[in-house]
Amino acid sequence: MAHPGEIDLLVYPDECDAFGHLNQASFLSLFERARWEMLVRGPGMDVFTRAGAWPAVRKTTIDYHAAAFPGDVLRFHQALTHHGRTSFTMRQTARRTRDDAPIATAEFVFVCINHDGRPVPVPVEFGDFMHARPGPGGAQRMIVNGVSLAVDVVGDGPAVLFVHGYPFNRGIWNDQLERLDGYRRIAPDLRGMGESDAPDLGYGMGTYAADLAALLDALGAEDAVLCGLSMGGYVAFEFLRRWRSRVRGLILIDTRAEADSAEARRARDASAALARESGAEAVADAMLPKVLSDTTRQRSPEAVARLRGIMAATPVAGLVGALAAMRDRPDSTGLLPTLAGLPTLVIVGQEDTLTPPDAARRMAGAIPGARLAVVDGAAHVPPLERPHETTALIRDFLRLVG
Ligand code: MLT
Repeated sequence: MAHPGEIDLLVYPDECDAFGHLNQASFLSLFERARWEMLVRGPGMDVFTRAGAWPAVRKTTIDYHAAAFPGDVLRFHQALTHHGRTSFTMRQTARRTRDDAPIATAEFVFVCINHDGRPVPVPVEFGDFMHARPGPGGAQRMIVNGVSLAVDVVGDGPAVLFVHGYPFNRGIWNDQLERLDGYRRIAPDLRGMGESDAPDLGYGMGTYAADLAALLDALGAEDAVLCGLSMGGYVAFEFLRRWRSRVRGLILIDTRAEADSAEARRARDASAALARESGAEAVADAMLPKVLSDTTRQRSPEAVARLRGIMAATPVAGLVGALAAMRDRPDSTGLLPTLAGLPTLVIVGQEDTLTPPDAARRMAGAIPGARLAVVDGAAHVPPLERPHETTALIRDFLRLVG
């Protein structure tokens, strides 16, 4: 069933080329049709003209992930990833309903103009409508710290805040969100990733951490168990430096406390160049073999496809911003001994080569009282690769934290 905010459109033969593929020019029409349908079902087709503003497209970027054919039904999801005074950016994703395969992701930058072609403010009614619209699966949108974040909030009880890594989104925590009942599970897309706003500038570990603190404020959560994977761990360290009293417990998954070496910093710049020149798909293709275990690749094609879809749909501004934030992050090894008294669990995938078990062992050893758990058959993303095992480890730890 399509969510009310999603639009299903059928692919017709006249939209396809001689090989029967949905033609790229037709894609543009379908994306446009989905936007109009969304307005028809929301504030009305005339929401712009009522305000004396017309949304002119200034830039279009489309990533084609897979072919679509006549008879396929594509589900279009629309999200606002940037809302300026006179401009806004909309990201649209098209997935095939039959198997949920990602087919295309598009980003449109609009400038609102009046009859004289002069920029005018984005109509308030339109902005309100887009911010209030839930994402796929019912994610809320919350405006915090100057950005609109997509966030899943599930269940009641003590809060657990899940912070994904790079270039992932809250989708890696599906099993934990579904099964850790008895806790209020909060999983945002960090700014620049997933369906959250992706501003052009302003990324840093401090900013991500401030977004999370503001998110907890907005949700009325005084404190939380912080669970960060990889880059999410870097954000957790920054959060701890600033708001230690708000952290009841800490789960560090496949992450490290050290800052980047000079070589790693150069590699960040090379990845940013790849993202700018070739887009998120190229980044996904380069990273995918490094983040999943052999076991996952051989036995869980659906997990491989899912993670690739997540990575390939990350906005380029968010990729470039996160790479700079990671490159410039401070060393957190000095923080580790100061965490004495904070219940801490370190989880690592047995086959992780990016943050290997030995490094996790050293990090756990530097945090007084921390426990270490190694997940067999997983590499860098255990919550998605071995979801049940990871959820069980987290559940046991949360029981201890109380
Ligand atoms: C992540 O998964 O967040 C990244 O691998 C972190 C990194 O590149 O340092």
